[in-house]
Amino acid sequence: MLNKAAAVITGPLQEALAATSTAVERVLDPILAIPDGAESRVVEAMRYSVFSGGKRLRPFLVLASAELFDVERVHALRVAAAIECVHCYSLIHDDLPAMDDDDMRRGKPTVHKAFDEATAILAGDALMSLAFEILGAEETHGDPSVRLELVRKLAHASGHHGMVGGQMIDLRAHELEMDENRIHRLQQMKTGALISFSVESGAVMGHASKQARAALMGYARDLGLAFQIADDLLDVEGDEDEVGKATGKDAGAGKATLVSLMGVERARQQAEMLTEQAIAHLSMFDERASLLRAAAHFAISRRA
Ligand code: IPE
Ligand code: IPE
Ligand code: MG
Ligand code: MG
Ligand code: MG
Repeated sequence: MLNKAAAVITGPLQEALAATSTAVERVLDPILAIPDGAESRVVEAMRYSVFSGGKRLRPFLVLASAELFDVERVHALRVAAAIECVHCYSLIHDDLPAMDDDDMRRGKPTVHKAFDEATAILAGDALMSLAFEILGAEETHGDPSVRLELVRKLAHASGHHGMVGGQMIDLRAHELEMDENRIHRLQQMKTGALISFSVESGAVMGHASKQARAALMGYARDLGLAFQIADDLLDVEGDEDEVGKATGKDAGAGKATLVSLMGVERARQQAEMLTEQAIAHLSMFDERASLLRAAAHFAISRRA
């Protein structure tokens, strides 16, 4: 199921996001088979999180970048599944009472509401572990050095150098002096790092040239920043039903965002500028990167 985010866009990107969602769910369904023992509850919570819609932007980015280098789709799909597992883990923990304390996610009660806090913590932990189990498996890529590079890059992007580090800064923002550069760094870590991994993974699997990798990394960096600014704008301007999560929370929680620093208009202008910059990085790929260009526009025009 896709949430309403995909419903507001039409055309090839919407089709690609929908196809991504179906394909990734097909990979994860057997992997997340519910076991017989009492541990089944944590797997039910993992499934609840993973099969609850979402835009599937990160898996899409893996597939789109892999296609540029003729990577086998079965391989790319497993990396796409792994990054969605890490993303879902980050959302489950982000919503916990100790963090953003949210009751709704993707239009449904958050995992700790539908289950309980301990189960939500464990479901997040297990999704993170599962991501690395998937990446390490032979089916993911025939070349062990590629698998190792994927494991190391995802570990770096998801840990204290990346998502977790960004989440720590996000939670401490009210006690820190956050200027524009520091907010960029926070957003690059908490959101940009996983987006960058998604884009770079296609280049890793496809043994892309240094030049192609650098171009994609430039694209991903600008896309990640624009994507988080759009998320922060949706917190101010979005419709709760459409967004599928509570809005109007960041200011009261003392979150450091470009919206709180410079206001809605200037934040939107910056997101638009980043989108154009992201697209400019793709010039060497011609029309083969048209879906990646569309994704950059979608990152800031989305309504969820
Ligand atoms: C939400 O990510 C958390 C952020 C990093 C901003 P998404 O907006 O990609 O969430 P889903 O996967 O579509 O629900
Ligand atoms: C979360 O940022 C980024 C993550 C690493 C999960 P937000 O806290 O703004 O994400 P939402 O708005 O809850 O989806
Ligand atoms: Mg948060
Ligand atoms: Mg949150
Ligand atoms: Mg947010």
